[in-house]
Amino acid sequence: MGKALIIGAGGVAGVVIHKCCQNPDVFEEICIASRTRSKCDAFKEKLQPATKTKIQTAQVDADNVSELVALIREFAPDIVVNVALPYQDLTIMDACLETGVDYLDTANYEPLDTAKFEYKWQWAYRERFEKAGITAVLGCGFDPGVTGVFSAYAQKHHFDEIHQIDIVDANAGDHGYPFATNFNPEINIREVTANGSYFENGKFIETEPMSIKQVYDLPQIGPKDIYLLHHEEMESLALNIRGIRKIRFWMTFSERYLTHLKVLENVGMTSIEPIDFEGQKIVPLQFLKAVLPDPASLGPRTKGKTNIGCIFQGVKDGKPKHYYLYNVCDHQECFAEVGSQAISYTTGVPAMIGAMMVLTKQWKKPGVFNVEEFDPDPFMQELNRCGLPWLESFDPQLID
Ligand SMILES: NC(=O)c1ccc[n+]([C@@H]2O[C@H](COP(=O)([O-])OP(=O)(O)OC[C@H]3O[C@@H](n4cnc5c(N)ncnc54)[C@H](OP(=O)(O)O)[C@@H]3O)[C@@H](O)[C@H]2O)c1
Repeated sequence: MGKALIIGAGGVAGVVIHKCCQNPDVFEEICIASRTRSKCDAFKEKLQPATKTKIQTAQVDADNVSELVALIREFAPDIVVNVALPYQDLTIMDACLETGVDYLDTANYEPLDTAKFEYKWQWAYRERFEKAGITAVLGCGFDPGVTGVFSAYAQKHHFDEIHQIDIVDANAGDHGYPFATNFNPEINIREVTANGSYFENGKFIETEPMSIKQVYDLPQIGPKDIYLLHHEEMESLALNIRGIRKIRFWMTFSERYLTHLKVLENVGMTSIEPIDFEGQKIVPLQFLKAVLPDPASLGPRTKGKTNIGCIFQGVKDGKPKHYYLYNVCDHQECFAEVGSQAISYTTGVPAMIGAMMVLTKQWKKPGVFNVEEFDPDPFMQELNRCGLPWLESFDPQLID
């Protein structure tokens, strides 16, 4: 049916590649292109013997638009799946515009020198994508991604108006290291050391990092400390969900993780300001990334489950209604299937499904969109088929 260019060869890309190869009728050909070609070649070597999907590899610097354009012209994909880093979002979107190819990513653009993630830079491409007649799907991992699809599904099937959404992202996995991050450490630490925020009555209210904590009893995981964070999908859901009054995003952290993070912060290791070190400029956070375990190496060590979902409160037929949609994912089952832990799995599977939605024209319209702006039903079906089945509760515990 189609050809996908996958940019990046890290933890999430590995899952996208495995999952494309499991769906060769949709992904007839893929090209894996990244900064380090040997990582792309390793995926090809492992997967080509067992799949009908034809795999190519390439080296590309995704910060360089003309290199990207040359690669897109040579491979001629129907879609570019960006699972490199958020810093590359705009250059890859520019290359897609120049070549007239659809685009999908899992995280919104962040400038390298400012730890501030928001959609304004990518939403600014709307008119140009509309004029070019091509589709950009933004934020199609789990959160953002499935959380937006869950919200669209709840809105379509269960509510006249949704008034409140609490997104709860829990990882009860244990990798046995004193401190490690489950996805790119630089992006992860930038996210969790930023101010928190939540949406209420039309505006965002900022909070000190990790200053709001609750305990929530998660199905199949049990009670966990959850902390309020800023998270990018709140920005689009605040615009796209009718009647919405309040949105909060919560994530679990262990005491051990937070203590390590505090120490690293206090000694300046999480800073993104370059410093002089032995005649060279280095960014402390990038140096920290270099000494921490590679998230891709956590797969064989991580045991336990994740539970990510949305608790909705609103009205249906004039009556108050509560509804909870969530997925539980087992780290070791993910590893057995695709060689990655559940954080990469829960991001990579939705990215593959999003690309499938565009290639099968079920999510094909000109412009730049967040996932909740598409029909959630075919995506929800694929989640069940592709390894992320969802569960629902009509009487969930509320956070407060
Ligand atoms: N929405 C969600 O639920 C969610 C959850 C987790 C992660 N994410 C996002 O998923 C993305 C991938 O995360 P990850 O954990 O897979 O990260 P990762 O393991 O660090 O992989 C990133 C990959 O991008 C490649 N890359 C970096 N800069 C590049 C450039 N200029 N040109 C070409 N390739 C480049 C890296 O190349 P090298 O191998 O040479 O370093 C690496 O292969 C990130 O954007 C992250 O924010 C989203």
